[in-house]
Amino acid sequence: METNNLKGFPLIGDKLPEMAVQTTQGIKKLPRDYAGKWLVLFSHPADFTPVCTTEFVSFAKNYEKFQKLNAELLGLSIDQVYSHIKWIEWIENELKVEIPFPIIADDQGKIATQMGMLHPGGGTKTVRAVFIVDPESIIRLILFYPAELGRNMSEILRILEAFQVADKNNVAMPANWPNNELIKDRVIIPPPTDIKGARERKKQADCFDWWLCHKKV
Ligand code: BEZ
Repeated sequence: METNNLKGFPLIGDKLPEMAVQTTQGIKKLPRDYAGKWLVLFSHPADFTPVCTTEFVSFAKNYEKFQKLNAELLGLSIDQVYSHIKWIEWIENELKVEIPFPIIADDQGKIATQMGMLHPGGGTKTVRAVFIVDPESIIRLILFYPAELGRNMSEILRILEAFQVADKNNVAMPANWPNNELIKDRVIIPPPTDIKGARERKKQADCFDWWLCHKKV
């Protein structure tokens, strides 16, 4: 079945569009400069705003954890690079937190428009979007949060870890992994797709039924 992506925004499974972007750390070429790494591309509504500032402090304080997961952070808003620089300086001077990752200055709003980060009622302020892009430059997950709700770093880190376990073991990850209510830190074995496989499955794995089997990794 073909999907009907009328607006043409990149979706899960699409390659991150190629673009050269101006950032606080110079020009970056997407997705090429991040090939071989996980990329957390995230937008914020605007510089010098309170919730965004708490998010940036949180992204910065968790930066090492992202790096340990072979992930890089890349921020974006529709602000000029001068504004980003002043805001980063303010955060460093006043809050004593260094922002170690680049921020895209999308002052024409071209990338935000292309990526579907501008939603009704928001004017030129991007929503809090998160695109998780894998080492092959494929968009694996998209989150949209509204301006009034700051994101949860633990969840973004959990997503990265879960993808890496899932990809390595060809499994799927249950709700609230690694603290799932039914199977704790175990993972879901993809269901068989034929009758023989279904009959065999219950003999081979821990199952609630042939289509709900789990294992330890
Ligand atoms: C904030 O970051 O606090 C914010 C930004 C835009 C609109 C509302 C809140």
